[in-house]
Amino acid sequence: MKSVITGSGIGIPKNVVRNDMLTKLMDTSDEWIQQRSGVQERHYAEAGQSSADLGMLAAQDALTAANKTTADIDAVIFATMTPAYYFPGNGPIVQAKMGFPEIPTFDIRQQCSGFLYGLDLADSLLKSGKFNRILLIGADSHTPLMPWHRGWEITFGHDREITPEEYEFNTRFRHLTVLFGDGAGAMVIERSENGERGFLHSRLFTNGSNIEALYMKGGSRTRPWIEPEQLVNGDLIPIMEGRGVFKEAVSRMPGAVRTVCSEAGVQLEEVDLVLSHQANLRIVEAVQKQLGLPPEKVPHNIERYGNTTSGTLPILFHECLTDGRIQPGMLICFTALGSGLHWGAALYRT
Ligand code: ACO
Repeated sequence: MKSVITGSGIGIPKNVVRNDMLTKLMDTSDEWIQQRSGVQERHYAEAGQSSADLGMLAAQDALTAANKTTADIDAVIFATMTPAYYFPGNGPIVQAKMGFPEIPTFDIRQQCSGFLYGLDLADSLLKSGKFNRILLIGADSHTPLMPWHRGWEITFGHDREITPEEYEFNTRFRHLTVLFGDGAGAMVIERSENGERGFLHSRLFTNGSNIEALYMKGGSRTRPWIEPEQLVNGDLIPIMEGRGVFKEAVSRMPGAVRTVCSEAGVQLEEVDLVLSHQANLRIVEAVQKQLGLPPEKVPHNIERYGNTTSGTLPILFHECLTDGRIQPGMLICFTALGSGLHWGAALYRT
């Protein structure tokens, strides 16, 4: 038995935010953002449009592609680090709003590795025999984590003067805020008894010895869990030690790809596509070079979306499938690394 992807879809908010729009808000430039990250534009969710809403757009698309309805799904897995509410997770929202029967929903939170962990979990649950068909969603809406009350409505075309204080405040977070965009992807994954298609092998890793490299405050360590001055001081904006995370990403992801290949008895050269998490174009290129693969085998779309966290792998998969870069019989390796740190890789035969 193998777990097979039978449909995929994406949920992308309409509002496109180009780099030059961000230069109105803070001391940055299109040139810096493109040179250091590759991002040219990203999409921002509307006010009130949560990661659950984006996830449902992608989920509907994936169900349609798989020619299935909500009645055909046995379980939902939702990966996000930006749930609509502190609790419960996005799973119950999706269950009720999309009209699923009272099936179990799993909410997982491995940040940029969320979808990769979801693939492994879906595969394991299907292999356990308990479920036949799972809907896996990865979605993130980062805009609420930006210094939003400091003029960010400009990114929705509401032009106004930014005060020097707002500009200075926004500039404190420029290394982080320019990277992220909102978006979602989803897959229907099901048991299949015939042939070679499906997930072959995966390996996941966690090392929590330095969570401060990339984390966000606000939680049960604080009483109350959010204090007004945290908002004022910008303490509820993610904290990222960019260079440290960069170094981890460019060694851990290629390492995980090599590990899954060698454990599955596959030569690296046999892999047709490495679908890598899209955090920074320079990271994607470094992964490609470390693995000694030609650029066309390690595609990227960070230019148009930024880092959509749990959304990046399924969005990239869906685009490659739609434009024909993914063909039947190909060997694909998914890989990701994110806050935690969590990372890993998964091999899949289309
Ligand atoms: N615009 C202009 N200048 C900037 C900006 C900006 N947006 N951001 C930082 N700078 C400046 C810095 O202040 C610094 O100036 P200085 O030299 O005068 O001190 C200079 O640019 C260089 O800054 P660095 O932080 O050293 O730049 P770097 O080349 O490391 O790029 C970046 C920063 C893009 C954040 C990179 O380190 C990176 O991509 N890291 C990994 C991010 C990642 O993978 N995150 C994991 C996934 S996210 C998740 O799991 C939720």
